[in-house]
Amino acid sequence: MSTPVVQTDDAGTAGTAPVLELRDVAVHFGGVKAVDGISLQLEPGRIYGIIGPNGSGKSTLIAGITRLTGLTRGELLLDGQPVHDVAPSRLAGRGVARTFQTVRLLADLTVRANVQIGADARADGGRSRRGPTGWLRPGATSPAVADAIARTRLEGFEDHYPAELSYGTQRRVEIARAIAMGPRLLLLDEPTAGMNQTERAEISALMRSMRTGGLCQLLVEHDVQMMIDTCDYVFAMNSGRLIAQGAPAEVVRDPAVQEAYLGRKWREHADGD
Ligand SMILES: Nc1ncnc2c1ncn2[C@@H]1O[C@H](COP(=O)(O)OP(=O)(O)O)[C@@H](O)[C@H]1O
Ligand SMILES: [Mg+2]
Repeated sequence: MSTPVVQTDDAGTAGTAPVLELRDVAVHFGGVKAVDGISLQLEPGRIYGIIGPNGSGKSTLIAGITRLTGLTRGELLLDGQPVHDVAPSRLAGRGVARTFQTVRLLADLTVRANVQIGADARADGGRSRRGPTGWLRPGATSPAVADAIARTRLEGFEDHYPAELSYGTQRRVEIARAIAMGPRLLLLDEPTAGMNQTERAEISALMRSMRTGGLCQLLVEHDVQMMIDTCDYVFAMNSGRLIAQGAPAEVVRDPAVQEAYLGRKWREHADGD
C-alpha cells in the first residue's frame, strides 16, 4: 500500500491552495496611488510580514483586503473565491479577522464582552450582533472566548474594563477578540505599537503558537527584529508596490529595501501614523 506524498512545511500544513490571493490589486485615492498593482499569495499555517516606510501603502493594502476600502482594480480571492464584492461585515463569517493600527475596544464592555463580540461575529456570519452565545448567562464565558483569553494570557482580566488595562494588555484584548472569531486569516496592523520589548516578544510567541491549525497571519510591523523572529516570509512595499519579498533576514538586507528606507531610521516601534 502506498502512502501519498504530501509536501509539508515546518508548521505541518500542506503547502497547497492559498488562503488569500491578490491579483494586480490597486487602491488609488484621487491621484495618490496608495496601492498600485500588488499580486501575492498567502498559504495556510504561515506568518507573512509587510514592511515599508511610512506612507508606502501597508495599511491601505490591509484595508483593501478587509474590504474597508474599495479596490481601484484587481482581484481578491479567498480560498479561490472572489470576495471583492463581499461586504466587510460578511468577511468575519468567511474567516477573516483583523486588528487595527489604533486600539478599538468598546470602553463600556468588559474584556470578556469585548472578546465575545469576536466569537459572535463568527457565529452568525456577521449578519447581526446577536449570536447563539447571546444565551449565555451574564458572567459566563463561551469556549471560543475562554480559548482566546487563555491564548493571549488574559486570565484574571475578564471582568476588567479597557481603561483599567495597560496599553499592551488592551492590544492583547484586541488580538483575543480577533482570535475568538476562529479566523483562517488574521491581519495584524502594527499590533505591538507602544509595547515594550518583553510585550513584543510575547506577541511574537503568541503568533508563532497560532500557526498550528493552519491559521494564516499577515503582520504589518516596523520592528525589524520582530519581523525576523516572527515571520516565515516578508513582503517589502514602497510607493504602493512590492519591491522585494522572501526570507525576512534577506529582505531587510535587500538593496531596494535599504534604499526605500534611506535617510529614515528603522523604527523600533511605530509612531501611530
Ligand atoms: N483615505 C485616504 N485618502 C487619501 N489618501 C490616503 C488615504 N489613506 C491613505 N492615503 C494615502 O495613501 C498612502 C499610503 O498610506 P498608508 O496605507 O496609510 O501607508 P502605511 O500604512 O504604509 O504608512 C499615503 O500617501 C497616504 O497619505
Ligand atoms: Mg499604516
